[in-house]
Amino acid sequence: MTQQVLVLPGDGIGPEITAEAVKVLEALKVSDGLDIDMTEDLVGGAAYDVHGVPLADETMDKAKAADAVLLGAVGGYKWESLDISVRPEKGLLRLRSEMELFANLRPAFLYPQLASASTLKPEVVAGLDILIVRELTGGIYFGQPRGIRTLENGERQGFNTYVYSESEIKRIAHVAFQAAMKRNKKLTSVDKANVLEVTELWREIVDDVAKEYPEVEVKHMYVDNAAMQLVLNPKQFDVMVTGNMFGDILSDEASMLTGSIGMLASASLDANNKGMYEPSHGSAPDIAGQNKANPLATILSAAMMLRYSLGREDLAEKIENAVGKVLDQGLRTGDIYSDGDKLVTCSEMGDAVVAAL
Ligand code: IPM
Ligand code: MG
Repeated sequence: MTQQVLVLPGDGIGPEITAEAVKVLEALKVSDGLDIDMTEDLVGGAAYDVHGVPLADETMDKAKAADAVLLGAVGGYKWESLDISVRPEKGLLRLRSEMELFANLRPAFLYPQLASASTLKPEVVAGLDILIVRELTGGIYFGQPRGIRTLENGERQGFNTYVYSESEIKRIAHVAFQAAMKRNKKLTSVDKANVLEVTELWREIVDDVAKEYPEVEVKHMYVDNAAMQLVLNPKQFDVMVTGNMFGDILSDEASMLTGSIGMLASASLDANNKGMYEPSHGSAPDIAGQNKANPLATILSAAMMLRYSLGREDLAEKIENAVGKVLDQGLRTGDIYSDGDKLVTCSEMGDAVVAAL
């Protein structure tokens, strides 16, 4: 049966980069009988401009009905002064929350061809292959109560709540342990258990779940130390599991080890591997509309979509190999360019991947 993919380009460079991923998927429909239908809709500021909300209910329904969602990026200067309840980011958070996409997989994999694009010494990052498993529908991003209130003395006070229930910790821990079992069987759980009770519980539950995976070597690390270790000795990590906000921060950091955040794909999955796929980077409004952005993170996200939600591991590998080939050819967008490379535009990069398929 034809599988349904909802494409949500979003804002900033979102439309440019998703167009390249769609191009790659269209090519696979022709060459490899990939049986999908793609429809596009609005999210983020683009949705706000038309509907007054960053995600229309009809779009939410389409996302729930689809087999997978491919998203570009949301946000931009134009919408920064809007009330927080209708900011572009809220569209993304609603999708994650209502689709129950609690498991965010963010691989930080260094293509050997890009070892010199990292700001770290090549010997520190060569061979780097980390999977960050970020909890995506809980923690301080969603905890209640939240808001800005006025105290009796007239001063305003902002507040958020950092909460995790046992079941939320348990299910993300299972995802992380299962991923570790398929990789090098090393799991680092990142918390701030020396200060925050919520992550004291996190640590305890991770240790409980660990009993079901005796082959996996588990380490606990405070988030400040983890941030430091990522630049000091990133190759000590295999799988890292952490909460929503720490995962947001550490995945940006880890992406830079790989040369550019423009290379980092992600999958956000529910309990049945239905998912939304998006690059880990943002909407880069400063270069939007200039055909300069790196579409590879989105193209690699489409590969993850084929792997996890559409049952086409073969085509996922085909895309990943094609990306390897274009890097071998020395093709680089500005973010991964160094002297001697061939500088290409966003659409030229997409064309090159299609040609390399
Ligand atoms: C990410 C982004 C989002 C997040 C923003 C755009 C809401 O930074 O996917 O990492 O904080 O989760
Ligand atoms: Mg982020």
